[in-house]
Amino acid sequence: MMHRLVGEARRMVASPAMAGGQRWLSATANKGRLDGKIAVVTGGASGLGKASAHEFIREGAEAVILADINSKLGLKTVKELGPRAHFVHCDVADEATVAAAVDAAVSRHGRLDVMLCSAGVVGPLTPGTSRLAALDLAEFDAVMSVNVRGTLAGIKHATRAMAAGGDDGAGGGGGGSILCMASVSGVLGGLGTYPYSVSKFAIAGIVKAAAAELSRLGVRVNCISPFAVPTPMVVEQFSVMLGGAAGAGFGEEQVAAIVRGLGELKGATCEAVDIARAAAYLASDDAKYVSGHNLVVDGGFTSYKNMNLPFPAKPQE
Ligand SMILES: NC(=O)c1ccc[n+]([C@@H]2O[C@H](COP(=O)([O-])OP(=O)(O)OC[C@H]3O[C@@H](n4cnc5c(N)ncnc54)[C@H](O)[C@@H]3O)[C@@H](O)[C@H]2O)c1
Repeated sequence: MMHRLVGEARRMVASPAMAGGQRWLSATANKGRLDGKIAVVTGGASGLGKASAHEFIREGAEAVILADINSKLGLKTVKELGPRAHFVHCDVADEATVAAAVDAAVSRHGRLDVMLCSAGVVGPLTPGTSRLAALDLAEFDAVMSVNVRGTLAGIKHATRAMAAGGDDGAGGGGGGSILCMASVSGVLGGLGTYPYSVSKFAIAGIVKAAAAELSRLGVRVNCISPFAVPTPMVVEQFSVMLGGAAGAGFGEEQVAAIVRGLGELKGATCEAVDIARAAAYLASDDAKYVSGHNLVVDGGFTSYKNMNLPFPAKPQE
């Protein structure tokens, strides 16, 4: 088998069509990776959604629609991102507004190529969200309705617009790429509250569950699991946690510095642009055969644990 593959590769390299090795180069090498694409980004007014929208535009996207519950911030972000950014009000917990955001993209631009479901909430940090015996299921439901139900609604309506036509004949789109924001809190237990952590494990699960059907419809679906980035959500969350533990408040910049110091990878910190570039990759044709994947962007944080072995002070004889 191996010999056959090596022989085939040699023949391809020797063929005139392969002269100069162009076959191995990306067809989009000198273009923006998202040239002409139409994208919707839920939660695009702030944080990782905003950074991804910026990166999509930088990579040539024709239009990026920010679908966010915060209209004031959304309109401000649109101004910052320029004429290819647009805003629609959307509460992802309300399915009708998610459907309307997708429909707005299709009616204005003729199709939808990329859907990024970034809208999410941490939920309260009360003791009842970190101790199972005291878990408040109403708080749990509130987080699940945005993070999980909202993401599912995004996948559902993006599929409706993108599907190239399935067994049931649904969909008149030309395929597309759907991305969801999971988290390292959905890779390892113990990093987030119960509602948040469970919601993020669920997002990675939804991606796996959806990939089989969506592959047959020409739609790729993936998620990204970012490490901590000091976005407004995380700075606020850590301010509450640090204020509680230390009994005194920290300034925003101090909290952001603490968050940046949490990683494991020497010489680098996790920034919004790292997540935005992962999103641009998954959205682009560079990832044309990647589906059902959870791209963990954490500098190795969730890859290992050290054993707390009681090493002897002196080497043993
Ligand atoms: N920042 C991190 O460290 C980090 C790490 C892992 C995962 N994430 C995930 O990334 C996503 C974005 O988080 P962020 O850090 O950028 O937070 P953020 O608070 O900066 O941005 C979240 C955006 O979502 C919007 N939003 C909230 N509820 C909404 C709703 N019901 N409908 C529509 N929009 C809504 C907010 O208005 C805001 O613009 C979330 O899903 C979060 O769980 C973030």
